[in-house]
Amino acid sequence: MRQLFNALTGRHLAGLLAGLWLSAASQAAPLPETGANPHEGVASCATSVCHGKVSEDESSTVWLNEYRIWLRSDYHSRAYRTLQTEQSEAIARKLGLPSAAGAKICLDCHADNVPTEARGRRFQISDGVGCEACHGGSGQWLESHAEAGTSHADNLAKGMYPTEQPLERARLCLSCHLGTKDKFATHQIMGAGHPRLAFELETFTVNQPAHYDVDADYRERKPAIASVNMWLAGLAVSGQQTLELLQEDWFTQQGLMPELSFYQCHACHHPMNDLRWSPEGTPPGTVRLNDASLLVLAEVLDVLGSADAAALRSGIQQLHQASLGSRSAVVAQAKSLAARLDPIARQVSAGSYGAEDMRRLRAGLLQRAAAGRFRHFTAAEQVFLAVETLAISLGDADQLESLLDAWFKSVEDENTFVPQQFAVRANQVLGGL
Ligand code: HEC
Ligand code: HEC
Ligand code: HEC
Ligand code: HEC
Repeated sequence: MRQLFNALTGRHLAGLLAGLWLSAASQAAPLPETGANPHEGVASCATSVCHGKVSEDESSTVWLNEYRIWLRSDYHSRAYRTLQTEQSEAIARKLGLPSAAGAKICLDCHADNVPTEARGRRFQISDGVGCEACHGGSGQWLESHAEAGTSHADNLAKGMYPTEQPLERARLCLSCHLGTKDKFATHQIMGAGHPRLAFELETFTVNQPAHYDVDADYRERKPAIASVNMWLAGLAVSGQQTLELLQEDWFTQQGLMPELSFYQCHACHHPMNDLRWSPEGTPPGTVRLNDASLLVLAEVLDVLGSADAAALRSGIQQLHQASLGSRSAVVAQAKSLAARLDPIARQVSAGSYGAEDMRRLRAGLLQRAAAGRFRHFTAAEQVFLAVETLAISLGDADQLESLLDAWFKSVEDENTFVPQQFAVRANQVLGGL
């Protein structure tokens, strides 16, 4: 996470709140892995006359050195190679798999693992998370997308994925950074040594080495989305996707224990002499579902004075109540809460937030953090990243650096997280505003 923090403070903000367009796509686009179009492989994008130039091409609207950036500095290009490491082989052995790089459950997130019939001539599984794993199978648009007169809308109509749209981007990233009905990092995989998956859309967008620029010509072709909107889109979609996953076999399948990765990891994984129970939570000795993104979203709505805040809070409460009863009660509550979240996701991601709103949001989250509202590590992590994003957007991250740094120390390591310390440090940041 230290790495996240450095990347964030090192960034400068371009075009905040400029040209915010409403989502053009009201129907969710099929994820690249489920789309009907053939995936032609990274080699099809990477030639020196296409996206494989050595440096940025000034004469073109796009950089044309995207392949080099991806290959040299984007972790997605090493996702397959990661499966060949000793760490992955050890995970595979513990799971009884012959190899990690040959296992579908690993390849589904660490590569563009589309079915054989959807693989073009130059497709290679060893490319890892390649261009088409995000931009969609290029079978229908590979030829046409570089021709003069082709619009972005033409490309989308031919199956290019709308990565520029905040809700769609969130759904795409979270398909691997959280999971879908088809792929999921179970507690068994974690128990074998896989890292816990943590995600915040704006932070991860910034941390993925940029292979594009949101400049004047970009704005002519596509909407430029402000950081705040990206953050809120990620929060809402992460909440939605969690609720959707709770309705899938990952959670509903019978077994003595439910799937543990739906719960707060640190509810179980913390020392016994460190008593953390609070009256606001579920009863003592019960395990709490991981509600981090839903909880933070509810607090955001509350700060914004939205009428949806109370409904979302009580919906979350009911979800926890249901989790003390039965799996079918959880499924029913997850379903009804997910439906409520739909309009909320569209609203918060398309909202227009001025400096006053952002200051209010930041102070509101800090006040709630200082009051001990975010006791679980996963929620604390989300709140820290949110405040960080807001400070960068507001342009005072440098002034607050030492306070944010001290606060960061309290969420840097999930294994030594102390909720009270997180609250005290939040209060100090609040005092420095
Ligand atoms: C097909 C699955 C997949 C999709 C889609 C995907 N990722 Fe990833 N991402 C991965 C995997 C796997 C890794 C780990 C790669 C490794 O280190 O071997 C990763 C790593 C990352 C990292 C580096 C994490 C770190 O610890 O520093 C960032 C940042 C990131 N992804 C951002 C994004 C963003 C933003 C999106 C959406 C635009 C996205 N990812 C979409 C699978 C995916
Ligand atoms: C639901 C998607 C998903 C599945 C399934 C999955 N992974 Fe991952 N894996 C990721 C993402 C995303 C990351 C990057 C996490 C981050 O840094 O935020 C990652 C990170 C890793 C890392 C750490 C890489 C590093 O250098 O930090 C290893 C090792 C790994 N995965 C191996 C495996 C193996 C082996 C399997 C199969 C048993 C597997 N993964 C299944 C999504 C997945
Ligand atoms: C992890 C997801 C991911 C991967 C992998 C990825 N991209 Fe992107 N790409 C994005 C996102 C997000 C954007 C920014 C939003 C947008 O403009 O659509 C983007 C933007 C672009 C743009 C648009 C620039 C513009 O001005 O319109 C090009 C061109 C591009 N990517 C090419 C590539 C190529 C070529 C590869 C493979 C070498 C690749 N991308 C791999 C996510 C990804
Ligand atoms: C309901 C309690 C519970 C929850 C919630 C839970 N775990 Fe576990 N976890 C366990 C138990 C029990 C074991 C097995 C411990 C052992 O073998 O000694 C375990 C084992 C592990 C291990 C392997 C440790 C070892 O020494 O072998 C890892 C890593 C792990 N869990 C990570 C996680 C992550 C990440 C989450 C959240 C996504 C999580 N756990 C949620 C109870 C839980």
